[in-house]
Amino acid sequence: MKKKFAAAIDGPSGAGKSTIARAAAERLGLLYVDTGAMYRAIGLAVLRRGIAAEDTAGIEQTLSGLSVTLRHGPKGQHVLLNGEDVSDAIRNDRVAHYASKCSAVPAVRDFLLETQRSIARTQGVIMDGRDIGTVILPDAEVKIFLTASVEARAKRRYLELDARGEHVTLEGVRADIERRDELDINRPIAPLRQAEDAILLDTSSLTLEESIAAAVGIISEKLGVQL
Ligand code: DC
Repeated sequence: MKKKFAAAIDGPSGAGKSTIARAAAERLGLLYVDTGAMYRAIGLAVLRRGIAAEDTAGIEQTLSGLSVTLRHGPKGQHVLLNGEDVSDAIRNDRVAHYASKCSAVPAVRDFLLETQRSIARTQGVIMDGRDIGTVILPDAEVKIFLTASVEARAKRRYLELDARGEHVTLEGVRADIERRDELDINRPIAPLRQAEDAILLDTSSLTLEESIAAAVGIISEKLGVQL
């Protein structure tokens, strides 16, 4: 079977990966795969069992008999935890914290690796995460490391939360982002880092539309499509 086209987009939280990858996939007719949602689903499973985020053995035990799958429909990606659609339930900071802790456990990464690879074997994808270009799809035709300064990411996230009516401060949001970066960058297994053959895209001074256009430009060139 001919290898399907794959674009890997990695980078820290808050750089706009999911919004940019989703929009680029839509414009280019590729499947958008958000791998962070799978770590979040495991985080949710651990949280629901009342296991502490630091309890590695408890996290490992949670994996047995667990199923985390993705379903792609007209409204985009859904993540299923033992068949239950948890796409909305995983979108909060508590689950994000658990996801971050779980993602540092080697057994969790092993557990998700084959599911992620198998999706890219059957369809052309834009897959976003932290280790897609380095570990999951090292042969991806395009690798983008999408980043932005801590200031820019904190400001965007603050405005987003503020618009939702959440009571947060810019300093608090910034500290949260720095904490998450620290965990993702310094974990011994599959740490967040730019693949050697990845193109760096820094969106600090770009608007969302400019960032999408830049990503679409990079990917379409490799895909060989005329826009
Ligand atoms: O992108 P996100 O915030 O939904 O990701 C949730 C957590 O999962 C985050 O702490 C990083 C981790 N993650 C990872 O380690 N590897 C991936 N491929 C995707 C996410």
